[in-house]
Amino acid sequence: MTLKISLSESKNQLRKQAWLTAYDYPLGRLLDESGIDLILVGDSLGMVVLGYEDTVDVTMDELLHHLKAVRRGVKRAPVAADLPNHSYDTPDQALFNAKRLTEAGADAVKLEGALIDQINAITSHGIEVIGHLGMLPQHVREEGGYHKKGKSADEAKTILADAVALQEAGCCAVVLELVDASLSKTITERLDIPTIGIGSGAGCDGQILVTPDLLGLQPWFRPAFVKPKADLATPIQAAIKEYIREIRS
Ligand code: KIV
Repeated sequence: MTLKISLSESKNQLRKQAWLTAYDYPLGRLLDESGIDLILVGDSLGMVVLGYEDTVDVTMDELLHHLKAVRRGVKRAPVAADLPNHSYDTPDQALFNAKRLTEAGADAVKLEGALIDQINAITSHGIEVIGHLGMLPQHVREEGGYHKKGKSADEAKTILADAVALQEAGCCAVVLELVDASLSKTITERLDIPTIGIGSGAGCDGQILVTPDLLGLQPWFRPAFVKPKADLATPIQAAIKEYIREIRS
């Protein structure tokens, strides 16, 4: 069964999708064995693993390196991978890099924005594409920060039209990031493919989070919409301090 068919079935059965990100073998394996619906090797890699300020400078080589590690840990869940910034500026480049990601183990690729020619180029070669609308982190510098999208009538109209266009171009799902909650609900009702929200309210067909945010691994940066399920930074530091004490005593 293709990812597209299995996701549409889950939409029809009203079963919400729980997605998370991973960047290495242990996290990929833990998520897979916990029963997650899809693992994204996101370009959030830049911020939560590589120490960059944002996702803008993540490269294909970096993404491929981490995707291969995740793939080695995952047996069951589908693995999707982000096309990094400037890896899909033209339809030919998008297809070339989507193929590299699938050769490295991705079952689907994700790209930001309503780039219909790029999406058509990829889907027409049988590669599954996940769209991404709303706040587009690869544009955070032009945007001057992470802002809610779709609050004005004009912006809402554009996002809804883009979501329909992504579905028509063959996307298997669309991530809605920081989209006004009532607009997310409208898009979700309008589309046959699932919407996966991040900071976009509960009305989507599923949710995705950056796993280190969920686990409380990075207390120095926590997006306002995240409700962490753990505070792992604290026991990690406690264990390290205990080790240091033991060695020194
Ligand atoms: O890069 C990423 O992790 C993402 C998701 C959080 C949607 O794009």
